[in-house]
Amino acid sequence: MAAAAKSLLIGAIDQGTSSTRFIVFDLATSRVIAQSQVLFDTLTRPGGWSELNPMAILDTVRTCMAETATQLEKRGFSPKSVQAIGVTNQRESTVVWDRVNGQPLYNAILWLDSRTTSTVERLIQATPSKSKDHFRAKAGLPLASYFSAVKLRWLIDNEPPIRQAIEAGRCMFGTVDSWLLWNLTGGVKGGQHVTDVTNASRTMLMNLHSMQWDDELCAFFGVPKSILPKICSSAEVYGKIAEGQYQGISLSGCLGDQQAALVGQQCFSPGEAKNTYGTGCFMLYNTGTTPVQSKSGLLTTVAYKFGEQPAAYALEGSISIAGAAVNWLRDKMKIITKSDQMSALAAEVPDTDHVYFVPAFSGLYAPHWREDARGVIVGITANTNRAHLARATLEAVCFQTREILLAMTRDCGCPLLSLRVDGGMTKNDVLMQTQADLLGISVVRPAMAETTALGAAIAAAVGIGAWDPATNQIQQEKTIFHDTIDQADRDRRFKRWHEAVDRSVGWHV
Ligand code: G3P
Repeated sequence: MAAAAKSLLIGAIDQGTSSTRFIVFDLATSRVIAQSQVLFDTLTRPGGWSELNPMAILDTVRTCMAETATQLEKRGFSPKSVQAIGVTNQRESTVVWDRVNGQPLYNAILWLDSRTTSTVERLIQATPSKSKDHFRAKAGLPLASYFSAVKLRWLIDNEPPIRQAIEAGRCMFGTVDSWLLWNLTGGVKGGQHVTDVTNASRTMLMNLHSMQWDDELCAFFGVPKSILPKICSSAEVYGKIAEGQYQGISLSGCLGDQQAALVGQQCFSPGEAKNTYGTGCFMLYNTGTTPVQSKSGLLTTVAYKFGEQPAAYALEGSISIAGAAVNWLRDKMKIITKSDQMSALAAEVPDTDHVYFVPAFSGLYAPHWREDARGVIVGITANTNRAHLARATLEAVCFQTREILLAMTRDCGCPLLSLRVDGGMTKNDVLMQTQADLLGISVVRPAMAETTALGAAIAAAVGIGAWDPATNQIQQEKTIFHDTIDQADRDRRFKRWHEAVDRSVGWHV
């Protein structure tokens, strides 16, 4: 921004798996002006079920927006001075609702829900090549319980009201972005049924090249196109907020949360990458305007598309369980009472005393793609205590990140010299130091942890023509963690990690 004298207030809704945030940034000064967060628990049930009530998701968004409006007013800003609002969201999570009364037809089935393991098996057998990779060239994804189309297939097969709503022309499908955008732009009173290319690329129904819903994929999954939202770019005006303190403000940015973090880290050049530590952990590597097919178990995905400009693509390494393992230690094992106790607890011991924890709660994602994996903790002795387990939990995230980094290096042929990180877990210094040690490269943490929301705000500003990523830049302080262990030690521990992974797979449930 020129001279940065004028403010550029942009709001960002960040709807994640474990919390919702609304943040108002002044992009002219790279500052957060107001913010609000609501934490919540997912509904888990036996058999790997993981759900959220879509109405509750919407309520958390409205609560955060209202709270932030109050803060803005206290600080002398009118909520109406927010120039645009962006949306970023947990991806793949699947919502179906009734277009006539606006009510959800089922809970949102979350991305990490693994109830569809047998659906996946059946679908793989139905492909001509009987391979989970049959649609990789077209969709960039393997057949796995992770993606929306598989969840939608399960809903159609198992929930008669959804079948009936489809037959009656009343069913609407969307990932969480679509659900929010439709409701915020008016719902049953003229809401916009839209999604963006990044979210659409995670449904397994979009063709990566045409960036449209694909006939073959829709037919394979038995999904009628009439229930799907319109695919838009990640930065354009989708509609205006229909009511409340922000009424009339344009919704003009939309990105899946991991793509938003890539934008928030300003990884706009091919070869730039980031790793976000949230409920899961996701590394995205910008490959430029050409989709690159992975030979190493990574996903090919759309990184962002700003208006009419060509889309940028990314290779992605997805780890399903990162912060979710910390939540598990807190909520189910009661080893800690608050997530921020992890750093101090892990620091009570110098190492894990040879304990390895593979938190494969929902199978293993990249690079393994094993639906049949489940969690294991190995190496326990009478000396093992909760600090060892806390440390092993943090190490699990770091080892999985190393697996992803090696796969990226194989696919791209060009090793990363440092890794940009963000997300809630990155404030944990023990985690960050362990990550640098186990990767053997430095880890770079920006001062502002809200990179995901920042990415959505940047997209929204681009969408109203107020920001040009080629010339405007967000300046940030950074902390760098350097690796401190020798290569032999790193390799020995990584080998043991692999032995633990071998014990987690093949555990059919
Ligand atoms: O693909 C799932 C991802 O979008 C969820 O992100 O931040 O809730 O771990 P997060």
